[in-house]
Amino acid sequence: MKCLSEQRTIIITGASGSIASGLISRFIELGDKLILIYRVFTEEYNSIKKKYPEQIFGIESDLKNLSEIQNKLDNTIADNKLNPGFLIHTAAMRSIDFSSLADGEPQIWYDVIENNLIITYHILRCSIEILRRNGFGRIVLFGSNVSRIGLGNGSAYSASKAAIANLCRSVACEEAENNILINTISPGPVKIDDSKFNPEYREFRKQYYDDQLKRIPLNRLADVDDIFNLCNFLISKTNTYITGEEIFVTGGAL
Ligand SMILES: NC(=O)c1ccc[n+]([C@@H]2O[C@H](COP(=O)([O-])OP(=O)(O)OC[C@H]3O[C@@H](n4cnc5c(N)ncnc54)[C@H](OP(=O)(O)O)[C@@H]3O)[C@@H](O)[C@H]2O)c1
Repeated sequence: MKCLSEQRTIIITGASGSIASGLISRFIELGDKLILIYRVFTEEYNSIKKKYPEQIFGIESDLKNLSEIQNKLDNTIADNKLNPGFLIHTAAMRSIDFSSLADGEPQIWYDVIENNLIITYHILRCSIEILRRNGFGRIVLFGSNVSRIGLGNGSAYSASKAAIANLCRSVACEEAENNILINTISPGPVKIDDSKFNPEYREFRKQYYDDQLKRIPLNRLADVDDIFNLCNFLISKTNTYITGEEIFVTGGAL
């Protein structure tokens, strides 16, 4: 556990997600305070809030609504006298159309872009203002290895992830003078619990991951510790010179 002066306050989006859940338990162990953004509060949230009332602060909000998330974030920070210096943005919509660009439903394409790229703009728009007040900030966005290899039957997801990595580069240029460093973690397939997925998505994911595994020189999927260790370094004060980067966590696969 850290002494109070070292205690970080980290905003984490997509808090009910597979990777975020793993990151949250590890940051709690380190003694950090966490502002967790859920689209809908879960049982898991109720139980960690009960267990760590001084460390956990929850916000229920759909990130598609800029003014709502801005108000809720400002109120949570003011009401609890918090001083966040860090943002980890994991929230995203999975690739759900399973169709080629030419055959897929336009509305699904628009939804994936909105739920990945537009929400990233929203959370950056309200968080950067908060970090600027501190004169310090560290931000991690989540991309994907598909930003460089593409994704057949998932063009919207893959395009949105490439756009996030590019957005990161622009924001790095804009915010360097405010001592705000921003990077994108782009994992290949990560080992997560897939029991909550519907059978169609589980099968799509299994086939894709089996295929990807053959191309990974380290011969295993990433696990949450691989993601956490990088994330924890990127948001640390030790990181004073890496910004605007898209860092691939793929076990050597291109
Ligand atoms: N898992 C992998 O293998 C992998 C590989 C490469 C990259 N990534 C990236 O890593 C990040 C985390 O992945 P994951 O597997 O943990 O994803 P996940 O389990 O699908 O979690 C995504 C989270 O984002 C939330 N979310 C989506 N749209 C939202 C919105 N409009 N407002 C608020 N919350 C919203 C979801 O909320 P609900 O629960 O309410 O839907 C969910 O909690 C994602 O950016 C993903 O693209 C993952």
